[in-house]
Amino acid sequence: MIYRRPDDLDFALADRPRQERPGNVLLTTPDYFGVEYAINPHMEGKAGTVDKTEALRQWEAVRETYDALDLDVHVTDGAAGLPDMVFCANQTLPYLDPREGPPEAGRRGVVLSRMRAEERREEVPYYAGFFSEHGYDVRELSDQVDGHFEGMGDALWHPGRHLLWGGHGFRTAPKVYDALSEMLGVPVVLLELADEDFYHLDTCLCPLDEQTALVYPGAFTEKGRALVRQFFENTIEVPAVEAREGFACNAHCPDGEHVLIQRGCDVTTEQLVAGGFTPVELETGEFLKSGGSVFCMKLMFW
Ligand code: ARG
Repeated sequence: MIYRRPDDLDFALADRPRQERPGNVLLTTPDYFGVEYAINPHMEGKAGTVDKTEALRQWEAVRETYDALDLDVHVTDGAAGLPDMVFCANQTLPYLDPREGPPEAGRRGVVLSRMRAEERREEVPYYAGFFSEHGYDVRELSDQVDGHFEGMGDALWHPGRHLLWGGHGFRTAPKVYDALSEMLGVPVVLLELADEDFYHLDTCLCPLDEQTALVYPGAFTEKGRALVRQFFENTIEVPAVEAREGFACNAHCPDGEHVLIQRGCDVTTEQLVAGGFTPVELETGEFLKSGGSVFCMKLMFW
């Protein structure tokens, strides 16, 4: 069994095979984005408050930022009746098998999510369609495993190494990671989430490069904090208000240098600069009303 329980993570990061950074980024248009129900605390009292014109402007700026970086940007259309579909990090987990071979030969694929909220379940088939049309393996978790799974909301690749971080507690069930570990041949470092405002792992942990992560320690248990420190040489701690209100940990570093982050997280951006990163501040205020910022508005794939 490849999976290691958190108590048994006795390998060093350097023992894991190298994994290249993904070069493709997927974005979904916000035509039907809005807050129409509340499935996380940030959405409470926000129904009907999204300014659609402003949301589109903010989304366009995110898209232009990715266009300006050296990435292949793909855009899919949102669908009517699915106001959270714009958060395209949640419906799948893309992977690349690290063994040698051409990328076409069944090495690239996605595992489909099983959304916790009924309201979001119909989003998944759209992404399954996108990836199968583009020639990727589209895999489902076995029927033998029950429990929810919210893709790259909770499952984050360690930059540069074949290692997966697995958040659980609010959306994804921990036992799903046993199945993922077997399917993908990768150890999973489980992190229990302890504060409802940080309901997805990508709201409180942002791996930047192989050595460095942005983290809001208050979202984790003591064991979780120790695991983050075990595998990341440098952790940049985000202050509570920037994490909770500014979603500073929902930032994204596509290339080990630029960090796309919600505007106004000043303590965090200062620390990023001190750490040698280049913050790119973006306004995602309309999406914060739904409990998401830059990281969940895109999906990286190989
Ligand atoms: N309203 C969405 C939800 O609660 C927001 C998802 C944001 N995604 C994320 N990965 N944090 O499901």
